[in-house]
Amino acid sequence: MEFKKQYDVYLKRIEKQIETFFSVPQIPQKSVFEAMRYAICGGGKRIRPVLTMAVADIFGGDAEDAAKVALSVECVHNYSLIHDDLPCMDDDDMRRGRPTCHKVFDENIALLAGDGLLNIAFENLSQENNFKNIDSKKLVSIIRNLSVASGVYGMIGGQVVDLENEKRTDVTLSELEYMHRGKTGALIKGAAVCGCLCAGLEENDDKVLMIEEYAAKLGLAFQIQDDILDVEGDQELLGKPIGSDEKSGKSTFVTLLGLDEAKNSLAEITNAAKNAIIPFGEKAWFLSELADFLLNRSY
Ligand code: IPE
Ligand code: IPE
Ligand code: MG
Ligand code: MG
Ligand code: MG
Repeated sequence: MEFKKQYDVYLKRIEKQIETFFSVPQIPQKSVFEAMRYAICGGGKRIRPVLTMAVADIFGGDAEDAAKVALSVECVHNYSLIHDDLPCMDDDDMRRGRPTCHKVFDENIALLAGDGLLNIAFENLSQENNFKNIDSKKLVSIIRNLSVASGVYGMIGGQVVDLENEKRTDVTLSELEYMHRGKTGALIKGAAVCGCLCAGLEENDDKVLMIEEYAAKLGLAFQIQDDILDVEGDQELLGKPIGSDEKSGKSTFVTLLGLDEAKNSLAEITNAAKNAIIPFGEKAWFLSELADFLLNRSY
């Protein structure tokens, strides 16, 4: 099947999960639920859940189970975006072509909506009866992987380094890579590992290690492209402001290497990602094309 068609299949699956899960305000505190819904129902590429589902597919996971796990991954991602845009963080007003969550709802409600999405992600994963073929031991493993990926050793850690680096002018390339591995790479890697676990693989299986290698490279490449787009992207297509990094004095791949070198680095790392999954042969065609798709993305 052609890449775009398969991507759309995964998109439909995750959109259906999101729509169903967030369809009815389940609690009296409607405003926070609406803010959560506003954030997560507002489009986006959904690459993390797509990755979870695609990896699960390679190893024969149940499609519906994988989509449910992918839902939690996307909840965590959207929590991180709400918080990332807050005035005390990147202070951005637009996301996915619409006003950011705190611009529509009060800042305090947006903050709590982020917290809400984070918590609901794990609530979803702990509902054992929701999953047909993932046993409770594997669910615990998924929960651990997702929480570590998004926690202080992963995404939160990377976000902290990002903030700390704003005050510095001497950030090195390896420090920058470290930050990228955390703030963006960790959740992308976590999404891929969760896909492996959905399909019943053990965490220390060689296949999981190979997928991890692929996803780590993919995540790094993804953030390099994000940095490039922040400089030369088309704001309309991107749906978020360009120049946000410069505004807050951030060190990025572009400020450190220059645009051309950043693009070379992006191509090199994308290739390394694809090389990591060569052993899977044809079965990994979608992952390989996903790496190219992300390399060439304009949004
Ligand atoms: C944006 O992520 C934030 C980063 C980690 C770079 P995405 O580019 O995946 O955002 P959406 O979900 O598609 O809007
Ligand atoms: C955001 O990185 C990373 C997380 C949300 C964890 P950026 O700050 O570069 O993302 P954008 O450019 O605002 O989407
Ligand atoms: Mg940021
Ligand atoms: Mg930002
Ligand atoms: Mg950015």
